[in-house]
Amino acid sequence: MDTRTFFDIMGTAPAAVTIVTTTDRLGRPQGLTVAALCSVSADPPLLLVCIERRSRTLRAIRERGAFAVNFLSGEGKNVAARFAETVPDRFDGLDWHPGRLGLPILDTVTLAHAECRTTEVLEAGDHVVLIALVEAGAAPAPHTRPLMYFRHRFGPWPGEVEDARAGGEAEGPELSAQPRRSHGAGGNGADEVTATAPHPDWLHAAHSRR
Ligand SMILES: Cc1cc2nc3c(=O)[nH]c(=O)nc-3n(C[C@H](O)[C@H](O)[C@H](O)COP(=O)(O)O)c2cc1C
Repeated sequence: MDTRTFFDIMGTAPAAVTIVTTTDRLGRPQGLTVAALCSVSADPPLLLVCIERRSRTLRAIRERGAFAVNFLSGEGKNVAARFAETVPDRFDGLDWHPGRLGLPILDTVTLAHAECRTTEVLEAGDHVVLIALVEAGAAPAPHTRPLMYFRHRFGPWPGEVEDARAGGEAEGPELSAQPRRSHGAGGNGADEVTATAPHPDWLHAAHSRR
């Protein structure tokens, strides 16, 4: 099958947009935009993410053996665009705090997050599948809407969000054992700039960028 058709088939499935973060050897935050992720197992709680082999963030994740998945809110499309582009510091001006595992959790634009330790690394074509144990995290607040990616465009989930849990409140506090600290210059990077992704097709962009 030709690549274009493959992308068009896969683009039929709307996907949640996340920022996968970690820290490098010097403790600096690293991260990239990821839409290829899903849950794998409930007991133990496992998820997977697929990351292109030559990703710079992947290198740091492999060294650290851990990463956080930040699920973006409907207002997070500029952050999604920024973490898919080549900029000197993707965290510049963004508020974030270290979670329980010390992994970067983005403030303001993150609806929910999961902090994970990598348990398996599967080589799969030009990507790597990371299977990871979710050790900490926070569920979304009621009625919050995620950022979606569909047919090369960003947009918030289009409808009202009913809360599936009784009482309307997500149970349990954030599991982070550390106090929340803010980093960065204070902006959340969530300003409206564009409704489209930085590249017509992120897979194609990833393949052709190096
Ligand atoms: C909406 C969207 C979804 C993306 N999903 C993924 C993904 O699931 N896996 C991946 O490797 N790259 C994905 N990318 C592309 C990376 O974010 C992009 O190539 C980034 O520059 C990689 O950064 P790094 O090399 O610094 O890690 C996506 C980009 C966009 C805009």
